[in-house]
Amino acid sequence: MSDQDAMKKQAAEAALSYVEGGVIGVGTGSTVNHFIDALAGIKGRIDGAVSSSVASTTRLEAHGIRVLDLNAAGELSLYVDGADESNERLELIKGGGGALTREKIVAAASRQFVCIADESKLVRVLGAFPLPVEVIPMARSFVARELVRLGGSPVWRDGFVTDNGNQILDVQNLEILEPAKLEQTINNIAGVVTVGIFALRPADVLILGTPDGPRTLRR
Ligand code: 5RP
Repeated sequence: MSDQDAMKKQAAEAALSYVEGGVIGVGTGSTVNHFIDALAGIKGRIDGAVSSSVASTTRLEAHGIRVLDLNAAGELSLYVDGADESNERLELIKGGGGALTREKIVAAASRQFVCIADESKLVRVLGAFPLPVEVIPMARSFVARELVRLGGSPVWRDGFVTDNGNQILDVQNLEILEPAKLEQTINNIAGVVTVGIFALRPADVLILGTPDGPRTLRR
């Protein structure tokens, strides 16, 4: 296991202390995969999970953890997910794995959002990581032109189809100084399903794996 992967695992295992029972929301990605594996050890404590992707559903079910539809689960007490970047205000870029739409829905439906990552994900200003934007396929070129007008350089994630049947533009060269404002602006472009800025609903807790052990930041 690489040092980075070990730090992801450390953060994921530290998040177990936030699991208090009921139905919890579970995100997507390599850090969350460590969380799912750790969750399997205490699965008797929860009633099940709402998953943010087909991949996480498969992994949860392989561990014998019940996966519920969000419509049947109601409000969730806890959502645990990774991130591609976080600033000190716990505003995030997410969607590197392409699951941003369901992630944003489950985060919005949860009282507490615990984000888990290795320490390399903490940045001063969001935007070095290309910003994922999920788009309705017929709107791809139009949305790309609008993103250029905002100063970005969108690149089509060619060959990738989201769990919702849509496409992703990864927007390079954005220095995101006002994340909530840009989130609203991009949300308002016709054809955008979801933008990977999580600032209107940021994380509440960020657990970073570090060489010295888990570091926790709160909003
Ligand atoms: C998936 C995501 C992931 O949380 C993000 O890409 C981080 O992934 P990893 O834990 O593999 O570094 O937003 O859509």
